[in-house]
Amino acid sequence: MTMLSTRRFLQIAGLAAAGLLLAACGKKEPPPAPTPAPVASAPAPAPVKVYVVGTDAAYAPFESQNEKGEIVGFDMEIIKAVAAKAGFEVKLVNTPWEGIFNALGQGDRDMVVSAVTITEERKQTMDFSDPYFDAQQLIAVGEKSKVTKFADLKKLKVGVQTGTTGDEAVTKLLGKNSTNIKRFEGTPLALKELESGGVDAVVADNGVVINYLANNPGGKFKSISDKEFAPEQYGIALKKGNAELLAKVNKGLADIKADGTYDKIYTQYFGAPPAAAAAPAPAASK
Ligand code: ARG
Repeated sequence: MTMLSTRRFLQIAGLAAAGLLLAACGKKEPPPAPTPAPVASAPAPAPVKVYVVGTDAAYAPFESQNEKGEIVGFDMEIIKAVAAKAGFEVKLVNTPWEGIFNALGQGDRDMVVSAVTITEERKQTMDFSDPYFDAQQLIAVGEKSKVTKFADLKKLKVGVQTGTTGDEAVTKLLGKNSTNIKRFEGTPLALKELESGGVDAVVADNGVVINYLANNPGGKFKSISDKEFAPEQYGIALKKGNAELLAKVNKGLADIKADGTYDKIYTQYFGAPPAAAAAPAPAASK
């Protein structure tokens, strides 16, 4: 380019720029922001992480689906409150209990929040948050049942949800090969079987049995507790080795315990804060 044509070029470019500016003003739109030089550009804020939470949403009051198909319950309130504190978001995905830990191991779920009892065996294949709930197995039987303690189930037909701690306890009592153990995909199915008389008892987490009795006010069922059942604690399960997310979850849990959010949610679901009732209050026998 010669000197002359360069000047001419700049003139034309200047005119064109002015024209653009005028057009922009005419449209009453702010002129486009100048592109910042690359060195001066500030890093864009990291987008909020969305973690996929797997839950077997047939376990009221911990997780269930409402009429709209939304997943609700104590566990869901807890994980949402933890997420809010820890600065991430959650996507709740209904996931069958059988296979729920596989989904976690394969990375299809980032967390399992499903009234999961922390056990030594599970700790071999997954990581757990700090405990967030105390639980224990409880027996549901018909109101006229003669069962008064766990050992009384030895010769009876007992329904459990496959692969739960209730299943483990009953398997220990009745024996690995006992045909009297009836295993179901979900705890509600086991309880239905109790209603129809297919099993004599169901062993499941206390909160769920109590909730079931409360929703069957006919007084057809009663619950039997037994100190033989080991105390259990629920934790949020994560894929092994995900230390960063585990730290975030534990921090969130500590924060909601410290600021009263946890107690508020607990009271909403179980009628009293955990300090006053370490475990859900036993249902008055009907
Ligand atoms: N707490 C028991 C366990 O970990 C039962 C949990 C079942 N949870 C569920 N959402 N179905 O084995």
